[in-house]
Amino acid sequence: MTAVDAYRLGDLETAAHARLPRQVWDFLAGGSGDELTVAGNRAALERRYLVPRVLRDLSNRGMSAMVLRRSVSMPVAVAPVAFHRLFHPDGELATAQAAKAQGIPLTVSTMSSVPVEEVVSVGGSVWFQLYWLRDRNLTFDLVRRAEDAGCEAIMLTVDMPWMGRRLRDLRNRFALPDTVQAAHLALDPGSVAHRSGAGTSALACHTDLAFASVLTWTDVAELRERTRLPLILKGILAAPDAVRAVELGADAVVVSNHGGRQLDGAVPTIEVVEEICRAVAGRCPVLVDGGIRSGVDVLKALALGATAVLVGRPLMWGLAVDGADGAQQVLDLLGAELRDALGLAGCDSVEAAAQLRVIRTDAG
Ligand code: FNR
Repeated sequence: MTAVDAYRLGDLETAAHARLPRQVWDFLAGGSGDELTVAGNRAALERRYLVPRVLRDLSNRGMSAMVLRRSVSMPVAVAPVAFHRLFHPDGELATAQAAKAQGIPLTVSTMSSVPVEEVVSVGGSVWFQLYWLRDRNLTFDLVRRAEDAGCEAIMLTVDMPWMGRRLRDLRNRFALPDTVQAAHLALDPGSVAHRSGAGTSALACHTDLAFASVLTWTDVAELRERTRLPLILKGILAAPDAVRAVELGADAVVVSNHGGRQLDGAVPTIEVVEEICRAVAGRCPVLVDGGIRSGVDVLKALALGATAVLVGRPLMWGLAVDGADGAQQVLDLLGAELRDALGLAGCDSVEAAAQLRVIRTDAG
């Protein structure tokens, strides 16, 4: 049973907006500063058009892909998003069910509201997103914990030395409700992340206390040494950084500006994904996220050279609307749209999409 008649992901966004408390909606939808990068991610996709090919035999059409040596049903993974229980009581367990049913990887955040072991026990392919903590031992404990739980990759987020200035959260004095806990960081209900204060975001205060504000290539090299799992670096926007990641042994990079939540004014991801793919030159997969809201958006990312995309906020819209079924509805829609778009563009596979021409029209 689905609670909402949805024909595009935007229909679920509208329904989620109507259901979520204002503070939680703002935490989800918002970005940093004037939210220029949030808007820019969408605008960059909207000003790109695809050049379809015709008269090809599409009778054996497929959209499966290989990501980190694993076959996935479509070139999409669930982005790491903190605290799924803010959006539905089943939290990450519901999202994991949907990802498993769809046959795509789910990334569990360091800031998950359900312990990674429980998420992995749902089944399916799970990646662990790592924030570099002030407590180095705790950081490596988390890596070990993710390995022992059965996660298939470590995704290190490199664009968050501290939290960007998220004005909506500051204005709302955003704090975690007592019902939602940071499962990996042992926060008590009375702790900083739950304590609302004038002009502050309790989460930003907590991040300042918990996260290392200095993270360098030396740390990445150490992490590379200390985990046997594939290592993904998330938050790359400059081609030289992508090249350095490859040279250090990263197994994938995610071109990301954190959904416009860190540096406001950071370049939209779609503007740089092509040059990063060129610089990486096939040495590792290049994933991209930020504003992906339809199958056509996925196709544009593939045509620009990406191996796969991550999707963040839309999964939370589905979760808010109808738990696991709602998250599943998001992935079903995305899959149906991608299948349609691939075929109408004349592509019988995800690989063929990489050959499509993309035209960038003028902004405005
Ligand atoms: C995020 N993102 C994120 N990234 C990360 O590495 N660790 C995290 O814990 C979180 N948490 C988080 C919470 C919320 C509410 C949002 C909206 C985003 C960033 C996320 O992984 C991803 O980069 C962007 O959300 C992708 O953009 P879209 O698909 O949301 O536009």
